[in-house]
Amino acid sequence: MKCVLLIALLSISMCLAAPADEVQIVKQESQVLADGYNFSYETSDGSKQEQQATLKKLGPEEDALQVSGSYTYVGDDGQTYTVTYTANENGFQPQGAHIPHV
Ligand SMILES: *[C@@H]1O[C@H](CO)[C@@H](O)[C@H](O)[C@H]1NC(C)=O
Repeated sequence: MKCVLLIALLSISMCLAAPADEVQIVKQESQVLADGYNFSYETSDGSKQEQQATLKKLGPEEDALQVSGSYTYVGDDGQTYTVTYTANENGFQPQGAHIPHV
């Protein structure tokens, strides 16, 4: 479960970082901690992403990664969109002004 979640989030990162013309990473930071990690980066096309995660003990045999973060991108319409999200044992929960609430 943990791995699946991580892979899902990494794929999102890779999509956002996918090569448009000459998009370059202009800033990047990351840190791996004993019980989690965090990273952030910005690209020259105005996209940004940051994410942090810590491991939470749910029980003696069960841990869940508590992930939160946000990403910002400039859409084809020229508008800047930001999505913040959390992902944990309850699933992936994005929030953004342009995302309809359910
Ligand atoms: C990652 O966490 C460390 C320790 O809490 C903090 O100093 C650093 O600024 C964080 N980096 C990012 C990219 O969030």
